[in-house]
Amino acid sequence: MDWGMANRLGRIFRPDSKRTVMLAVDHGYFLGPTSGLEKLGDTIAPLLPHADCLMLTRGALRQWVPPTTNIPIMLRVSGGTSIVSNDNETSALSNESLSVSMEDALRLNVSGVAVSIFVGTEHERQTLDNLSQMVDLGERHGVPVLAVTAVGRDMVRELRYLALCCRLSAELGAHIVKTYYCDGFEKIIEATPAPVVIAGGKKIPERDALQLAFDAVDRGAAGVDMGRNIFQSAAPVQMIQAVGAIVHQNATVEDAWGLVAPALGA
Ligand code: R5P
Repeated sequence: MDWGMANRLGRIFRPDSKRTVMLAVDHGYFLGPTSGLEKLGDTIAPLLPHADCLMLTRGALRQWVPPTTNIPIMLRVSGGTSIVSNDNETSALSNESLSVSMEDALRLNVSGVAVSIFVGTEHERQTLDNLSQMVDLGERHGVPVLAVTAVGRDMVRELRYLALCCRLSAELGAHIVKTYYCDGFEKIIEATPAPVVIAGGKKIPERDALQLAFDAVDRGAAGVDMGRNIFQSAAPVQMIQAVGAIVHQNATVEDAWGLVAPALGA
């Protein structure tokens, strides 16, 4: 592996645990001012010391992250749709294109780029092509590509479908794959020849989110790429610390919950 690629992957995944706590705050690229991210800079400032990597868009990076901040950046480079686009077309969200050039990603000194794929939707082919194009550019410039296995509105987050998305992403050359946790998750890990990280999904009770992170890591995930279950919590700093304890120190759910519960008055 090229030095640049290895160096960037080594910044995303902590060398001691070979895992990552990636903080995802890229939701605005299609959801607009997501709850908790209206003032994105204020939200992430206390969280950054506890994150290994920050996933966001080009505009958010420029506006809200001081260039002196020493955190690896996972830059979202696909988009072009919104939550209200073509409301009566079920797969409208899948109609993404590449939204940032590799040249600009390199200028922003990112550690990785993220592309969503929408398998089983009307625009499956173009999103897989987006991924392949970015992988070619990533290989050329030493930049890892994260495939986000986004789930279309009609798709169920179950093993058969997610395993397909993850294997396909890795076979197309993604260096990291992001997916959702599901029953039988270990089978996804077995069959995906790339590190897999999990998204948290919609906000759920904090203890359940910690259980989700634990189960994923216990079954082979290389960490999390988690957003709403951290920044929408009433105790976001404690949540990211607790997730970090699970990911990097193999903390139990009980131990991790012990870091959060007092702050929630639970
Ligand atoms: C979704 O398209 C975005 O890439 C989010 O970053 C992703 O869903 C992870 O965030 P959350 O943990 O809030 O699901």
